[in-house]
Amino acid sequence: MAIERIGILTSGGDCAGLNAVIRAVVHRAIQGYGWQVFGIHEGTRGFMKRPVACEELHLGIFTGNILRMGGTILGTTNEGDPFDFPMPDGTRQDRSEEIIEGYRQLGLDALIAVGGDGSLAILRRLAQQGGLNLVGIPKTIDNDVPFTENSIGYITAVNVATEALDRLQPTAMSHSRVMVLEVMGREAGHIALNSGIAGGADVILIPEIPYSLDKIRNKIEGVKREQGRNFFLVVVAEGVMTESGVPVTVTDADGHKRLGGIGHHLGRRIAEEIGAQTRVTVLGHTQRGGSPTPQDRLFASAFGVRAVDMVAEGKFDRMVAWSNRDCIDVPLADVVTQPHNVDPNGPVVRTARGLGICLGN
Ligand code: F6P
Repeated sequence: MAIERIGILTSGGDCAGLNAVIRAVVHRAIQGYGWQVFGIHEGTRGFMKRPVACEELHLGIFTGNILRMGGTILGTTNEGDPFDFPMPDGTRQDRSEEIIEGYRQLGLDALIAVGGDGSLAILRRLAQQGGLNLVGIPKTIDNDVPFTENSIGYITAVNVATEALDRLQPTAMSHSRVMVLEVMGREAGHIALNSGIAGGADVILIPEIPYSLDKIRNKIEGVKREQGRNFFLVVVAEGVMTESGVPVTVTDADGHKRLGGIGHHLGRRIAEEIGAQTRVTVLGHTQRGGSPTPQDRLFASAFGVRAVDMVAEGKFDRMVAWSNRDCIDVPLADVVTQPHNVDPNGPVVRTARGLGICLGN
């Protein structure tokens, strides 16, 4: 099939490296194949508008700072499943056919979608329903997309969290405090575990491993006794529940409920039960913004180039992935089955345990 026009969209929560991947797709598609590239605005929402909300992407727009910029120049959304879309009057509608029609109106031959596992599952369903030629690119700070060692944005988020620990350690030491750092990641503990190791945490709590306050107490008292140290760094993933198994959530001003607040809960419990002075830092969306690390720029570039080559080869319904130092592609059907959480017996957990870090159990 002859390809002439392709679309690209970013979907789900933003992260660092999205602009780098857009840049890579445009470079490869125009320079390598002479295609036209259309950037769809705000994920699938752009396809619902009439005319479709999009812009043609030329090489000229990438002469500046875009490779280095956080966010996404196309906009994105992590709300509003098109199969069950919340309407202004409070009803819900299946708007999938509008999206498929939008793709047709633009005369696209293929669509490259940059998303996490949730977005890719929705896009795959749309592609199957409408016969769209879809290639997926994994992005999310949570790094829970399966079959790829890395998703775009994850390493940058780990950097932000590690830098926070670097800043918390001296103030913890000065005041002999327990500093609790809450990081994002939804139900996956990758950011917490990896930044916790890199930032020298004493305790790392992740959703994949149950914890008890007694174990945290043993750790803190043991270090005091054996090393004479009186300050501690605790990293907790937002998806960790209370000791009694209740998820902790916050409701934003717009009514949107999301994970968050376990850091404060834990800070209170450590103060009450262990008698330590605690302070809590919630990193929140700082983990998503900022300039992508060189590694995230590299993944973004490799994924973008490979995705365009896959379109040229007619390899659809697949996602690009990073595996064993190589850029490969895997079936989207496999990707959408289950998220890739931390393996409680895997090498990173073993490293943490080997260092004497308390994982709560
Ligand atoms: O999936 C990425 C992520 O940043 C999660 O780590 C976090 O729980 C969520 O998105 C926050 O979403 P929102 O942008 O809606 O606040």
